[in-house]
Amino acid sequence: SAIRIGLIPADGIGREVIPAAQRVLEALPNGPKFDFVHLDAGFEHFQKTGTALPQSTVDTLKNECHGALFGAVSSPSHKVAGYSSPIVALRKHLDLYANVRPVISVKSASTPNQKELDMLIIRENTECLYIKSERIEQDPKTGLKVAYADRKISEYASKRIGAMAFNMALTRQKLREQKPLAQRFWKHAPRVTIVHKSNVMSVTDGLFRETVRAVKESNPELYSGVDMDEQLVDSMVYRMFREPEAFDVVVAPNLYGDIISDGAAALVGSLGVVPSANVGDSFVMGEPVHGSAPDIAGKGIANPIAAIRSAGLLLEHMGHTAHALAMYDAVNAVLADASVLTPDLGGKSSTNDVVEAVLKHL
Ligand code: NAI
Ligand code: MG
Repeated sequence: SAIRIGLIPADGIGREVIPAAQRVLEALPNGPKFDFVHLDAGFEHFQKTGTALPQSTVDTLKNECHGALFGAVSSPSHKVAGYSSPIVALRKHLDLYANVRPVISVKSASTPNQKELDMLIIRENTECLYIKSERIEQDPKTGLKVAYADRKISEYASKRIGAMAFNMALTRQKLREQKPLAQRFWKHAPRVTIVHKSNVMSVTDGLFRETVRAVKESNPELYSGVDMDEQLVDSMVYRMFREPEAFDVVVAPNLYGDIISDGAAALVGSLGVVPSANVGDSFVMGEPVHGSAPDIAGKGIANPIAAIRSAGLLLEHMGHTAHALAMYDAVNAVLADASVLTPDLGGKSSTNDVVEAVLKHL
């Protein structure tokens, strides 16, 4: 039976790159049969209807779809009454507890001196400071305001994100053996790097660190081939910029993961090539890392590669590994060839040209 995928282009270039990814999915040689469902969400939808995420979108995803592809939302920089981000709500509704972001170097016209990197950042997606438990009080001594935020780190969430990190390290190793082009640059034994700051936050980060470490120790047979190391978050940033080739799988609590994953995206030349997936136990949603890019929206020059790779991640996490690898290979071939690139990578080609080139390599 067909794989049912919800498509939520949302705003701006989301409407250009999601159809591009759909075309590549539909063109997979001997690919599965897809059944695409077009769904509404986003800021423009909010402006038209007063809701950014219609209940029907949530219900259709939950009850009818196997996975989804999300484009990008425009978020107003000022607070707009009644508006909240649909992507944050979707992660919650669908229990997508991991944000998975591969960052792979691109050699292109605009990044000739690019270092070779091939890392996978796995960010815990449900807790940490993002539980949004904030309050403001008045200091009785000074009369001035004091703001507080709670930070939640649970053994439950740390354990499941840790398990995902070790399992992905093993999976990547297997894929490298099968298909050297798809996972190109990591040449050592699989490794998980735990990011934390337990020298300062010994209770919360201490629990995260201990729990992830215990995942490896709890199953020595399975994970003996995976090296484990750790990096304080501040020195992680420093090392990642100096020596990004030193990282394979990186696992982090929500806030640190958010920051280092955007930082890592800066290492590969353009936001337009960096994909992500929001992963839960029973649902996956692919999502390019970039936003709605109002500066280029409607011009037909958005780079579709982040969205195509996100569709690949969607298939990979749904178990259709061979098809995912075919997509990664086709994209990597287009990047390596470098004759058909959008302007963000120093080229002159359109979104459509890049899709055509990817289809040719499929
Ligand atoms: P952005 O990611 O939309 O754009 C940053 C810069 O990168 C722009 O110059 C843009 O043209 C370029 N760019 C991004 N994706 C590209 C692609 N596929 N091809 C070629 N160039 C690309 O971030 P910005 O400008 O800070 O935010 C614009 C809007 O997007 C805001 O409303 C923001 O709230 C929203 N946003 C949404 C995100 C999401 O849906 N996950 C993430 C980041 C921003
Ligand atoms: Mg971010």
